[in-house]
Amino acid sequence: MIPGNGSATSNGRRRREVLSGGALIAAGAIAASASGAASAQVPAQPRSAGPIAAGRDTSLAGKSAFVSGAARGIGRAIAVELAANGADVMIFDIAGYVSPASNAKPATPEDLAETKRQIEAHGRRCVAVKGDIRDIAQLRAAANQMQDAFGKIDIVVADAAIQRWKDLLEMEDSDWKDVIDVNLNGTANQIRAFAPHMVARKSGAIIVLSSMQGKHGTSGAASYSASKHGIIGLMKSAAMELGKHGITCNAILPGLVDTALTRYPERWSHVIGETMDNPPKNPSEAETWNNRAPRVPLRVAWLKAEDISPMAVFLASDGGRMASGACFEVTAGDSALDV
Ligand SMILES: NC(=O)c1ccc[n+]([C@@H]2O[C@H](COP(=O)([O-])OP(=O)(O)OC[C@H]3O[C@@H](n4cnc5c(N)ncnc54)[C@H](O)[C@@H]3O)[C@@H](O)[C@H]2O)c1
Repeated sequence: MIPGNGSATSNGRRRREVLSGGALIAAGAIAASASGAASAQVPAQPRSAGPIAAGRDTSLAGKSAFVSGAARGIGRAIAVELAANGADVMIFDIAGYVSPASNAKPATPEDLAETKRQIEAHGRRCVAVKGDIRDIAQLRAAANQMQDAFGKIDIVVADAAIQRWKDLLEMEDSDWKDVIDVNLNGTANQIRAFAPHMVARKSGAIIVLSSMQGKHGTSGAASYSASKHGIIGLMKSAAMELGKHGITCNAILPGLVDTALTRYPERWSHVIGETMDNPPKNPSEAETWNNRAPRVPLRVAWLKAEDISPMAVFLASDGGRMASGACFEVTAGDSALDV
């Protein structure tokens, strides 16, 4: 049971719980269906984001969230931002070597511990789990552990991923298979492991991380691009299947964000190569910024992880209750160029 705090938001949440249990169907509709007649009644209070109320799109008080890939980067920003807005959080990360098909340096157990420290600094509870999203048994165990620790699972953010820069014809098998296995299969594993707990409560918000590279091709990163396209198909299918249980499923599509996934000269060279033949192989950070920023509507070459996390709060909040099956782009304006 979600603890009440007497606010409009928590009252609204309680009402939706009752509704989602089906208890407030119009009396006439119950009578009609009991007599076998076709029900032609509109539910008295259909599922909704609730009445206008300050904070309904930001407050996560009383909610609990799972975030994968939370040792650093966007996953950490989302986990900490959810906590800053009231949620208790389970953070899950491999915090170590993933695959030869990952261009980024591995995250560490210290990174994961730092995320836990930042969450607890907001006065929220945090459970940190070191695990691999490729292993659904580990995710099912984490879901049970979270259920025991927090009593329920309101929010799942499937963020963990790897990226490989390798042309298709130069790929090793692992450059294709491992990226699909981590990014696409791992995201599906998280939905399959956690959603049953949400179905049981007829409520929940699932957020997956795709990318603008999930909307178009990427020369030099086909496995990543394919995985991020696949995540959008997965998200839309999950939204269709789980909506009847009161569960939303949406994707966040960040633009280029400054994290360990992108902060190295080879990646910067690809950024410059978007508009230039034969880009420098080892450009500096300043060279990359100055090349790209003028092309971005908001004039930043890349976003910060904490520019992305507010979107997760909205999608996880009561205010985001009726958004589902959709892609939410946070790109500093790159979206305007992407048709
Ligand atoms: N940085 C960007 O420019 C950008 C742009 C668009 C989308 N994204 C997406 O945002 C998400 C986060 O990216 P980021 O930039 O913060 O990356 P990051 O490399 O900084 O963080 C990814 C985290 O995922 C973890 N991880 C990787 N494989 C794992 C596995 N098998 N099991 C458990 N944990 C695993 C890593 O240890 C790491 O902590 C990813 O889905 C990424 O594709 C990033």
